[in-house]
Amino acid sequence: MSDKSTGVIRSVIAGCGSALPQRIMTNADISKIVDTTDEWIVERTGIKARHIADDSETTRTLGVDAARKALAHAGLEAGDVDLIIVATSTPDQTFPATATLIQADLGITRGAAFDVQAVCSGFVYALTVADAMMKTGQASCVLVIGSETFSRILDWTDRTTCVLFGDGAGAVVLKAETHPDSQQSPGILVTRIHSDGRFHDKLYVDGGPSTTKTVGHLRMEGREVFKHAVTNISGVMDEVMKEAHVAPADVNWFVPHQANRRILEGTVRKLGIREESIVMTLDRHGNTSAASIPLAFDVAVKDGRIAKGDLVLFEAMGGGFTWGAVLARY
Ligand code: ACO
Repeated sequence: MSDKSTGVIRSVIAGCGSALPQRIMTNADISKIVDTTDEWIVERTGIKARHIADDSETTRTLGVDAARKALAHAGLEAGDVDLIIVATSTPDQTFPATATLIQADLGITRGAAFDVQAVCSGFVYALTVADAMMKTGQASCVLVIGSETFSRILDWTDRTTCVLFGDGAGAVVLKAETHPDSQQSPGILVTRIHSDGRFHDKLYVDGGPSTTKTVGHLRMEGREVFKHAVTNISGVMDEVMKEAHVAPADVNWFVPHQANRRILEGTVRKLGIREESIVMTLDRHGNTSAASIPLAFDVAVKDGRIAKGDLVLFEAMGGGFTWGAVLARY
C-alpha cells in the first residue's frame, strides 16, 4: 500500500538483540571428540569457536532472550508487537510453531505468530514475509527472530559437519512507518528470495515425523554446497543492488550468513566489495543457520560499526537450496 503524495510504508528496523548459550566449544575441544585440528578448521572455514546449548537452553529460550533485548533496544513493549515470525529449522517441538511459544513467554495475546523454514536462509525469508505483511497493512510491529540449536541435529561422530555449526539467536523489531519514497528513507528497500529444490539432497536432515519418525541428523555434501554458494549469493546480491540502483561501493555494511570465510571471500572478489565492509562473526559463533545474520547484525550495531542511516545488505544461502538478500537503510 502506498500513497506517493504522503509517502510509502517502510519496514524500519527499530531495534535488535541477540542471545548465545553459556558454553563455548573451541576447535581444541572438538578435536577431543572427532579426528580434526584447529588448523584444519580455521584454514577451511575461519571458525575458531562456537556456543553450544545445554539442556536448559533451547531455540525457544534463546529466541525469547534475543526478542526481549531487541524490544528494549527499540524502546518498545511486548504489547506493541502484532506479529512474530521465527526462522528456525530446529524448533522445540514439531508443532506448535516455536513462534507461538515465544509469543506466550512474552505475554502477547494479540496478532499472529508463525515459523518459517528455509534453513540458513530463514532470516532473509522471514524479513521478506514480514516486509510484505507490513506493506499490505497486515502488521505494524513485527518481531523477526532467527533462533537455532543445530547442535541437537549434528552427528557428533561426523567431522565433516559437526565442526561447522553452533547455537544462538538474534532478533530485530520492525516498525511500519510512512516515509518519502526515497532510497534515503529508512527501512527495507528491496527483498529477493529464491529456491531450487533439485538440490534438496545436498544439504538435509535424514529424519522427520512423516518418514523416519525421528529428528534425524544433518548431512551435507560440502563441496557441492560450496560450488553453488558463491554463484547464488553473488547473483542475488547483484539483483537487489540493481533493483535499488546502488553499487557495491554505496553499501555501508554487508551482513552475510556466516557459513564459511572462503565463501565470503569468493563473493567479495566476484562483486568487488570492500572487505572492511563485511561483518564477520563466524570465528566465534560458527554457522548458526537462521540465527547468524541477526546475531552478526546485533554485534555490529552494538559495537558502533553500523549506525542509523547506513545502507545494509543481508544475504544467505542454505538447504533446499534456498537463497536470498535484503537491502535496508538502518
Ligand atoms: N578435520 C580434518 N579433516 C577433515 C575434516 C575435519 N573436520 N572434514 C573433512 N576432512 C578431510 C576430508 O576427509 C578430506 O580428506 P581426504 O582428502 O583424505 O579425503 C579432506 O579433509 C578434504 O575434504 P573436503 O570435503 O574436500 O574439504 P573442503 O575443502 O571442501 O572443505 C567444507 C570442507 C569446509 C565443508 C567446505 O566444503 C565448505 O565449507 N562447504 C560449504 C558448506 C557450508 O558452508 N555449509 C553450511 C551450510 S550451507 C550454507 O550455509 C551456505
